[in-house]
Amino acid sequence: MNIQQPRSAVATPNDLAAYWMPFTANRAFKHAPRMLAGAKDMHYFTTDGRKVLDAAAGMWCSNAGHCRTPINEAIARQAATLDYAPPFQFGHPQAFELASRIAALAPKGLDNVFFCNSGSEAVDTALKVALAYHATRGEAARTRLIGRERGYHGVGFGGISVGGMVNNRKLFGALLTGVDHLSTTYNREKQAFTKGEPEWGAHLADELERIVALHDASTIAAVIVEPMAGSTGVLVTPKGYLQKLRAICDKYGILLIFDEVITGFGRLCYPFAAERYGVVPDMITFAKGVTNGAVPMGGVLIRGDIHDTFMKGPEHVVELFHGYTYSAHPLACAAGLATLDLYREEGLFERARALEPTFADAVMELRKEPNVVDIRTVGITAGIDLAPKNNAPGLRGYEALACAFNDHDLMVRVAGDTLALTPPLIVSEAQIGEIMDKVARVIRAVA
Ligand SMILES: Cc1ncc(COP(=O)(O)O)c(C=O)c1O
Repeated sequence: MNIQQPRSAVATPNDLAAYWMPFTANRAFKHAPRMLAGAKDMHYFTTDGRKVLDAAAGMWCSNAGHCRTPINEAIARQAATLDYAPPFQFGHPQAFELASRIAALAPKGLDNVFFCNSGSEAVDTALKVALAYHATRGEAARTRLIGRERGYHGVGFGGISVGGMVNNRKLFGALLTGVDHLSTTYNREKQAFTKGEPEWGAHLADELERIVALHDASTIAAVIVEPMAGSTGVLVTPKGYLQKLRAICDKYGILLIFDEVITGFGRLCYPFAAERYGVVPDMITFAKGVTNGAVPMGGVLIRGDIHDTFMKGPEHVVELFHGYTYSAHPLACAAGLATLDLYREEGLFERARALEPTFADAVMELRKEPNVVDIRTVGITAGIDLAPKNNAPGLRGYEALACAFNDHDLMVRVAGDTLALTPPLIVSEAQIGEIMDKVARVIRAVA
C-alpha cells in the first residue's frame, strides 16, 4: 500500500498500552488516538484515510515539507552503502562534508561542529564544552550557567536546569547547582499583538549585570538563550536585546550560546537567527531542521578558537571526553546533506523571508476571534494565546489541538493555551489562508 497517499484506512494497532508517549496526555490520547500513517509535502495522512494540513512542520522539523524524494533517496543510498560507522576514532566522509557545509552557513568564526542526536544532547554538549573550555584555559572557577525563565533547552539535566519551564523542572530534584536565570522577555502589557520583534524589552538584558554583580564574572561560564523561545509559546526577542547580551558577555568573558534548535535552518528566514539579528554567539545548538526531521540529528557550532583551545598536548590523547554512539550517524549525515541541498536549490530561506509579511498579516486577522488575548509572529511562526478556561489552564489549548486534528484536518502545536503555527517553509499563500481559516473555526469551536 502507498501510505503516502492512502485511499482507504490503514490498519491501526489494537493495543496502545505498552508505549508510554513523551510529553503526551497518554490517557486522553489512548481514548481518542491521533494516528499518522503517511506524509507528503504539506500534509499528513491519518490511519483513517484523512489528509491533514501540517501547520507545525511536524514539530518545527520538516522545513522543506514531508517525504521529500531527494532526502529519502539519500537515506536509502546511505543505508545500502554504510549503515553505521563508529564515531570515536573513526570517521566517514559525509560527516566531514556536513560539518563543513553547516559551518559555511553559520556566522563567520563558528568553524567547528560537534554532532549528537537531538536538541537536548546539543544543549548538554554546549554547556559541557563551555565548562571544559574555561577549565582548560585555567579559569576552572567559571562553572555557573545562566538560562532564562520560560526558556526551553530540552530535557537533559543540563537543559532543564538552565531551562525555565516549571513543569519540566519541578519533579526532578535539585538539578544542576550554580544555575541562575534571566527574566523572560515577554510582557503582554507592553508587547501584545506585535508583528516581529517587540520594541519593548531590550533593557531586560541588563539583568545579566545584576547576576554578575551577585556571583562575580569569575564564576560564570556561559549564558544560553533561544533567539525565539518556541516551545514556551513563541516569545520573540525584543529589538536590541541580543546585542546587549552579547556586549555584557564580552565585557565579562562569559560565553554566549544561542539555542537554535528551532530557529536554525530557515524558521526565522535565515540559516541561523544569529544572522537575522546580526549577533554572533560563541556557540549555536541545532537539531530538527538540519535533517528536515527525517533522521534524528543535533549538533553544536563552536567558535574556532574555543575548539583550538582543546587541541593541545600529546596527539594520541582524546581532547574532549564527550560524544555519542550515534554522533554523525551516516544516515543522519546523508539526510543532512540532501536537506541542505534542498534548502539551497529551492531557496527556502529566501522564500520564507518574502512570505513573512503575508504570514504575519494573515495571522493577525485572528485577533478578532473569541478569547484571543495575544498574537506574536516572527519568521514563519506565530503564537496565539487563548484565554484559559476557568480553573483549567491548558484545557482550551488541548481542546483546540484535538478539534483542529479531528474536525478540521489541521495539525497545530500547543503549549498550554497557546497555539503555535509554524508550517513548513514550502507553504503557499493559499495554504496560509487555509490554515488561518481553519484556526479561526477551531478557536470559535473551543470558545
Ligand atoms: C530551543 C530548543 N532546545 C532544545 C530542544 C530539545 O530538542 P530535542 O527534543 O530534539 O531533544 C528543543 C525542542 O523543541 C528546543 O526547542
